[in-house]
Amino acid sequence: MRIARTAAECRALRSELGGSLGLVPTMGYLHEGHLALVRAARADCDHTCASIFVNPAQFGPREDLSRYPRDPERDLALLNAEGVAFVFMPELGEVYPPGFDTWVEPGAVSAPLEGKSRPGHFRGVATVVCKLFNIVQPQRAYFGEKDAQQLRVVTQMVHDLDLPLEIVPVPIVRDADGLALSSRNVYLSSEQRRQALALSASLRLARALVAGGERRVRSIKARMRGLIQREPEAAIDYISIADSSTLAELTTIDRPALISLAVRIGATRLIDNTVVLP
Ligand code: PAF
Repeated sequence: MRIARTAAECRALRSELGGSLGLVPTMGYLHEGHLALVRAARADCDHTCASIFVNPAQFGPREDLSRYPRDPERDLALLNAEGVAFVFMPELGEVYPPGFDTWVEPGAVSAPLEGKSRPGHFRGVATVVCKLFNIVQPQRAYFGEKDAQQLRVVTQMVHDLDLPLEIVPVPIVRDADGLALSSRNVYLSSEQRRQALALSASLRLARALVAGGERRVRSIKARMRGLIQREPEAAIDYISIADSSTLAELTTIDRPALISLAVRIGATRLIDNTVVLP
C-alpha cells in the first residue's frame, strides 16, 4: 500500500493504476463502519483509495477538533490489511494552503438538523469532499448512511456541480447491542455507553410504532423523547422525522421518512438514524 502526502503524489499514484477507483474519505480513527466502506469499494472497483484528513473546516469553534481521536499507524495497518491500493494523507497546508479562499456552499438540504446545530459544518464537508474528488479522481466514492444528511449534501453537490463520479451509500454498522459505530464512541465511559443505547432503542421504538400503524409524527417523537430522557446523562439536541429526500419536517408519515436524532451523552454528541416507509 502506497501513501500520498501531496495532491501531486496522489495524482501520480492514480495515473499508475488502470481501471476504476473507489474512494473512501475518512477522518481516521477507523472502525468497522469505515472498513465496511472499504469492502464495498473493493467489491465494486478495480482499486480502492482511502483518505485520512481531520478537516478543521467542518468543526465549529466549540467542537472537538483538538481532541478528535487519531491513530494513523493503526489506520494504515487496517487499510493495508483490507487491500487498499493507496492512502491520501495530506497535511493541513496541502489542503488549505495560505491564501485558500474558495468554498462550496451547499443549499437547502444542508440547513436543518446537523446544519442548524453545527453552522458551517456542511460548507466545510462539501469543500473538502469536492477537493478530495478533484485530487483523487475516483469513479465512485463511498459514504456511510449513519451521516445521512452528509450523504444527501454530497449527492446533491455531485449532481449540481456535474462531478464525474457516483456516490455509493453504505448501511450503518452497529455493535451487537445496537450502538451505531462512531469514532466518538471512544469518549464514552462504560456507563455512558450503556446510556447511549437509548439512541438506537428509540429508533427501534419508532420503527415498531410505524409498523403498528402510527403515522402521527408528534406521538412518535414524544415516545422517543420519553425513552431517551430516562437516561440521566442524555440531553437531546434534536429528534427529527423528515422527508427522506428534501429533509423537510413531516407532521404525518405519508412518504419515505428519515427519523434522525442527535443526543449528547455527557460531553459526547452522538447521531443515529433510520428510514421508514409509510
Ligand atoms: O464523514 C467523515 O468522516 C467526514 O465528514 C468526511 C466525509 C471524511 C469529510 O471530512
